[in-house]
Amino acid sequence: MIEVKNIEVCYGEEKALDKLSLSIDKNTTCAVIGASGCGKTTLLYTLAGIIKPASGNIFIDGEELNGIRKGTGLILQDYGLLPWKTVWDNIAFSLKSRGFKKDEIDDKVSTTLKSLGMEEYSEKLPGELSGGQKQRVAIGRTLALEPDLLLMDEASSALDAITKEHIQNLILNIYKESQITLVMVTHNIEEAVFLGQKIIVMDDGKIKHILDNPYFGDENLRNNLDFYKVCLEVRKWLNEEA
Ligand SMILES: Nc1ncnc2c1ncn2[C@@H]1O[C@H](COP(=O)(O)OP(=O)(O)OP(=O)(O)O)[C@@H](O)[C@H]1O
Ligand SMILES: [Mg+2]
Repeated sequence: MIEVKNIEVCYGEEKALDKLSLSIDKNTTCAVIGASGCGKTTLLYTLAGIIKPASGNIFIDGEELNGIRKGTGLILQDYGLLPWKTVWDNIAFSLKSRGFKKDEIDDKVSTTLKSLGMEEYSEKLPGELSGGQKQRVAIGRTLALEPDLLLMDEASSALDAITKEHIQNLILNIYKESQITLVMVTHNIEEAVFLGQKIIVMDDGKIKHILDNPYFGDENLRNNLDFYKVCLEVRKWLNEEA
C-alpha cells in the first residue's frame, strides 16, 4: 500500500508537484498519464525516494519513505543500460551491487533471461540490440532484484507500435505472475488503459482525475470495443480544461 500525502516538489521557483495526495493498493497497477511537463517523472522519482519532497509524506506499507528503499525497482525512460557490459553482465551488475553471491547471481540472471526470452542474447552488448530487446534487458535487470514495487517511466515510448504491444503484454504477464505493485508513467492513452487498473490523469503538478478501469487484466483487451471507450474517457479528461 502506497500512501502519498500532500507532497510538494519544487525545482527552484517552479512547483513540479503541488500538494499531491494519492493512495495505491498493494498488488495493484496504476498508470499515470498527462501532458509533457505535468510532473509524471517527478512523481515517480519521489516515489522511488530519489527526490525528497519539500513537504508532505509518503508511506509504503505503513513505513515512511526516507530515501531509496530496497524493495523498489525503478525502470527509466532511456533503459539506463551500461553500454560496455553484455546483457548478462548488465543484469548481474545490479545483483552484484546488492551483495549477492556468484552462484546466486548466475542462477537469477539465467532465470530472468529465460523468462524474458532473451537467453540467446546474453553475450550481446546493448548497442547490438533492438529497442524492444534493450527494454527487456532493463526490465530484467530490475526484476532480478525481486522488487515488491515496480516503478516504470515511459516503458515503451521509444518503441514501434508492434514492439510496444509486446512489451506491454510482457509487463502484464510479469504483473500477473509476481506479487508486485506496479506504478507506470506514460503519455500513451492505450498503454495506460491496457496496463492501469487505476488511471491517474495529471495536470500541472496535480491530479485532475482518477479512473477505475474495470477491463484491466485481459490480454485481448485491444480487440474489445470497451477498451476504446475507456480510452475515449481518458482522452476526454486529458483535454478537459482545468
Ligand atoms: N531537474 C530539473 N530542474 C528544473 N526543472 C525541472 C527538472 N526536472 C523537471 N523539471 C520541470 O518540472 C516539471 C515536471 O517535469 P517532469 O519531468 O516531472 O514532467 P513529465 O510529466 O515527466 O514530462 P514528460 O512527459 O515530458 O516526460 C517540468 O516543467 C520540468 O521542466
Ligand atoms: Mg517524464
